[in-house]
Amino acid sequence: MIKTVHTAPYQDQKPGTSGLRKKVPVFAQENYAENFIQSIFDSLEGFEGKTLVIGGDGRYYNREVIQKAIKMAAAAGFGKVMVGKGGILSTPAASNIIRKYHAFGGIILSASHNPGGPTEDFGIKYNIGNGGPAPEKITDAIFTRSKVIDTYKIADVADVDLDALGSFKVAGMQVEVIDPVADYADLMEQLFDFPAIRALIASGVHVAMDSMGAVTGPYAKEIFEERLGAPEGSVRNFTPLPDFGGHHPDPNLVHAKDLYDDVMSKDGPHFGAASDGDGDRNMIVGKGMFVTPSDSLAIIAANATVAPGYAKGIAGIARSMPTSAAADRVAEKLGIGMYETPTGWKFFGNLMDAGKVTVCGEESFGTGSDHVREKDGLWAILFWLNIMAARNEGVAEIVRKHWAEYGRNYYSRHDYEEVNTEAANNLMAALREKLATLPGKTFGSLKVSAADDFAYHDPIDGSVSKNQGIRILFEGGSRIVLRLSGTGTSGATIRVYVERYEPDPAKHGIDTQEALADLIAIADEISELKKRTGRDKPSVIT
Ligand code: G1P
Ligand code: ZN
Repeated sequence: MIKTVHTAPYQDQKPGTSGLRKKVPVFAQENYAENFIQSIFDSLEGFEGKTLVIGGDGRYYNREVIQKAIKMAAAAGFGKVMVGKGGILSTPAASNIIRKYHAFGGIILSASHNPGGPTEDFGIKYNIGNGGPAPEKITDAIFTRSKVIDTYKIADVADVDLDALGSFKVAGMQVEVIDPVADYADLMEQLFDFPAIRALIASGVHVAMDSMGAVTGPYAKEIFEERLGAPEGSVRNFTPLPDFGGHHPDPNLVHAKDLYDDVMSKDGPHFGAASDGDGDRNMIVGKGMFVTPSDSLAIIAANATVAPGYAKGIAGIARSMPTSAAADRVAEKLGIGMYETPTGWKFFGNLMDAGKVTVCGEESFGTGSDHVREKDGLWAILFWLNIMAARNEGVAEIVRKHWAEYGRNYYSRHDYEEVNTEAANNLMAALREKLATLPGKTFGSLKVSAADDFAYHDPIDGSVSKNQGIRILFEGGSRIVLRLSGTGTSGATIRVYVERYEPDPAKHGIDTQEALADLIAIADEISELKKRTGRDKPSVIT
């Protein structure tokens, strides 16, 4: 019943910031997915008889790869697979299942916020037993294996029925089709003050949640409309669609603009939130106020004790390097540890496992805590509602008071997508060359205090990750960061992050792009971005 299939290796299966991401036609090549899945199994040890969790965000090609993964897990010797009904598990829900049921690990099928469909994106990612993305040591091993793999094993059986809850055997391995929502909704109910949020909603605070045609729909329906009593219709675009309705399921001011406009309109909702393709990202908006993800992390950390799951306080905070330093000021005031890691959630896992940090965040609309080992969109949204309920204040009031107390970190990210790869690499190389000459130089009114290529020394396992982004720091706390995306699937994406700290509350009302205009110009001057890429403006500004 177990078949060994001869295969030829592919040379391009290098996992990026978050697993292997490619267009569907690439994944649909002969044995492409099988090679990668077998390379994962070949890079792991000691899983015989243990449990593997499998689920995805429901995008195009999800079901096909899930069938392959189940049959290959059986052939590899796993004892059991737990798979979400319909092949659905949001990324944070998958992380929770891995942890709760002490699984060996999990395979998550997602390309996050990237579009889905026959010619759009797909992805495969491996998570380890703590529920978090595999560390580089494992992803490197998978890549190495994928370049030489010549056979894979698969159970030669019919497709399994993913659409009914239940348990059955596939080639001697147990398969359990589970409700993807229940465990996750229970976890949220333990962490947050549901009666207080329910009362807030009952008092007339109008909440709108946009699931963007992606995976959180069923989760949000259960949590907001069933458990928290929000009126039917509060959750929008709640049916997970293979192509996300043709949209980018990316909760930001570009792709969730309808929701933003609605909240900003006179009679629109008081609170708006959105999440991405696989449910780990979030966007928070209130009347007259968009909350930057960096501020969201800082505000959640500063108010954490209002939520029952965090009533005892938080151990520490971690943020990715390009994320603004707003949270650093909170950590300083609370007297707790603050950690700066490279981009990508996988770097937070060790810190959380060691009990050094409780909440973590990235500027890329990612916030989360040690309740799982992934960022968690609905978690962040519920945290905001819990804070609003506890403080009896709206989003704008909470944010303005936070700035008044800690100062405001004006922050923006400019993305240049699908840039010629060579031009992008040359730009970064030239910038690296220049780094040593920058400190002490003055640009306009700003003087460079330090410049480097960020390297991370993991304080827990001692590993070192180099070349994680160019940092140009100025006196007074302003900063420019440039790095290449590790998740793009065509050409290169250059990300430019700019930040300026403003302690004076009288100057907290400036338009963000205006407040950062000088830094944006300096970033271009130093990197020669426009000249080298031929672009005169970013593809996306967030
Ligand atoms: C992007 C974000 C990063 C996030 C990742 C996965 O990676 O910048 O913060 O962890 O997506 O959601 P990048 O494309 O920049 O490598
Ligand atoms: Zn995502």
